[in-house]
This record gives sequence, structure tokens and C-alpha cells, in this order.
Amino acid sequence: MDFNELINKRYSCRNFAKRPLEQEKLLTIIDQARLAPSAVNGQPWFVHAVSQAETMKKVITACTGLGMNRFIHQAQAFFVVTETRDKLISTTISKIKKLDFQTIDIGIFIAYLSLAATSQGLGSCILGWFNEKQLQEALNLPKSEKVRIVIALGYPESDEVKPKKRKSLNQISKFH
Ligand SMILES: Cc1cc2nc3c(=O)[nH]c(=O)nc-3n(C[C@H](O)[C@H](O)[C@H](O)COP(=O)(O)O)c2cc1C
Repeated sequence: MDFNELINKRYSCRNFAKRPLEQEKLLTIIDQARLAPSAVNGQPWFVHAVSQAETMKKVITACTGLGMNRFIHQAQAFFVVTETRDKLISTTISKIKKLDFQTIDIGIFIAYLSLAATSQGLGSCILGWFNEKQLQEALNLPKSEKVRIVIALGYPESDEVKPKKRKSLNQISKFH
């Protein structure tokens, strides 16, 4: 799959098949996303890959508050991405420059995870709607380990990809 095909194929999948997901695929995705760039190579990310039934239930509860994200009941796995601020140099530069590099880094990492999932033939949906406390309890995380995003994963029920609604080139770019 070339890059153009890959970015067009990735979409927020909200209809997963009941087909089980192979652990090796999850490992491959994380291994590929590991190569993402980050400020001063800080790599401030950690992935909790969830596929065991009991933990899946807890993650689903944590991401479906107020009736949101109901579709994730069909997901076959989740990545819960947390932030590790263990590189002092990166946090120090962030403070000096008043730019939250760690959040930018994690955003890039999440994009890599999503695209890697697509390249493995999987559907994925990034979930920003979650209860952090419930996730920390489900995964036995210390309060200091901040949850940044959850990604629902599974084989898509259909191959159909909806057309993308995006701003035009003019709206998002200017050549100087
Ligand atoms: C940071 C972030 C948080 C998101 N949170 C959710 C969410 O909680 N539930 C959901 O269904 N989609 C969520 N999405 C998916 C977006 O709605 C989706 O990416 C956007 O509408 C563009 O559609 P596409 O991904 O199909 O191209 C999130 C996406 C991002 C990047």
C-alpha cells in the first residue's frame, strides 16, 4: 500500500467485525509507531495493549460515559496511550519555549499507530472521550501516569471508506 492509499484508507472505524485480532498485529503496530519522531527524541509515550475480556469490559465502561462511543462494544482490542515525562530535557525545553512538545509528540505517535493499524488491514478509532480515573484503575496505573488517548481496534465490518470531509488546500495553506 503506497502512502496515498494508506492515508485515504484510514478512517474512524465505528463498525468492527466479530473476528478476533491477532496479538502479533498489535505488536507490529506498536513496533512501527515506535519509530515516530519526538522533541529531543524524548519518546514520551507508553502503550497499554488491552485484549483480555475482563480488562476490555473496564476500558469500554471508561470510554462510554454519557452514552458516547457505544460502538466500541464491538472492538477487539484497545491501545491506551499514556504519557511518560521522564526526559527532563524535553519538559525543560517545553517550559522555556512555552510549547507543549510532549503533547505534540504523542499526537504524532497516535497518527503513526493509526496508520500502522490501517496498513495491517485493521480498522481503528481514536477516542478522546474517556474517564481517566476509571482507566487508571482498570490498568492499575499510578495517578502520575496520565492517559492521553485510547484507540479502539478491530477488523472493519466492511471495506467501504466514506469520503473525507476536510478543509480545502486554500483554507489550510499559503505559499510565501
Ligand atoms: C484527539 C481525537 C479524539 C477523538 N475522539 C473521538 C471519540 O471519542 N469518539 C469518536 O467516535 N471519534 C473520535 N475521534 C475521531 C474523529 O471524530 C475523526 O477523526 C474525525 O471526525 C475525522 O474523521 P475520520 O477519522 O473518519 O477521517 C477523535 C479523533 C481525534 C484525533
